Amino acid sequence: QTPVWLDCDPGHDDAVAILMALHLPEIDLKGISTVHGNASQQNTTHNAARCLLAFGSQEQVRRIPVVAGADKPLIRVVRHDDEIHGEDGLGGVEGLPDKTDAAVVAKLQETKAQTAVLAIAEAARALPDGEQLALVATGSLTNAALFVSLFPDLVRDKVSQIVIMGGAEGRGNRSPTAEFNILCDPHAASIVFDAEVPVVMAPLNITHTAIFQTHDNAALLTPGSALASLAETTPEARASPAKAHTPLRHTLSTLLNFFAATYASVFSFHDGPPVHDPLCIAYLSHPHLFRGERYRVDVELEGKYTAGTTVVDLWEYRKDELVDYKEDPESRKSWGRLGKNVFVLEQLD
Ligand code: BDR
Ligand code: CA
Repeated sequence: QTPVWLDCDPGHDDAVAILMALHLPEIDLKGISTVHGNASQQNTTHNAARCLLAFGSQEQVRRIPVVAGADKPLIRVVRHDDEIHGEDGLGGVEGLPDKTDAAVVAKLQETKAQTAVLAIAEAARALPDGEQLALVATGSLTNAALFVSLFPDLVRDKVSQIVIMGGAEGRGNRSPTAEFNILCDPHAASIVFDAEVPVVMAPLNITHTAIFQTHDNAALLTPGSALASLAETTPEARASPAKAHTPLRHTLSTLLNFFAATYASVFSFHDGPPVHDPLCIAYLSHPHLFRGERYRVDVELEGKYTAGTTVVDLWEYRKDELVDYKEDPESRKSWGRLGKNVFVLEQLD
């Protein structure tokens, strides 16, 4: 099992990432932190707790902390994405506890005095010798940037990799060339790409190949279908397909249908929405399904038209500025000198 910390801004696809992180046997979810992005940090925090309560086992609900992180970017002005995710970040979703639900309030009360960056550090430090934490970031990178800046030694020793959903090779979704998570806090992204730790990036190019299609929704609601069984979280429910509209499958369907509707109206995606964020979890549980390449990736911080763009050096124009990683693929030390050398996921098998 890979120990994982999930830093997110739920968000419809973040919610699916939480579900997967809770139930894939390859993943040992240690904690969830939240960041501004799809909605305000207050809302994304409520949403993370609502998802944990709805999707997790009782043991997971007790053990896994939900910790609030940054409520604004390092330098830029905060922005949210009501148009895609609704005002509270999880528009249209049915079956989750409300944010005023006593269990949600109690869960968040536990971590009221904590802050995301310190909680991530604590989780990394608490791992036994020889184990390392994978940090997954599926929102803007403000918490991740603060974490790598404050704890460089801990990051070097106890963090195996940072896997992010964000950026793109030559396209955007919230500007002609910028992807939303990077656009929300480009300075933070630049800091993370330059950290002395392997960084893996799932850009739009690959997430736009992972589409939740209309027939997937039908399958999700069909008792006994492979997808319906996958979406059951208990062995009992998996074994009894007769229980058609279980609460979880209904919740997932409402969640993905809302996302489908906003993607259809905003981006004219009529086949279904890309489920971006879960790819980070899938990469950790099933890395063999992914193909990618290492590239230097810079972030455009100031461009008049291109701020927030990930500049992926596909043709190695700036290779001379890097130590050649191929000569020393295993050395953790070389990553520091290699700053901005990112493993970009390009294809899903
Ligand atoms: C990213 O932005 C948000 O809309 C999603 O949650 C995802 O993390 C896609 O650009
Ligand atoms: Ca997200």
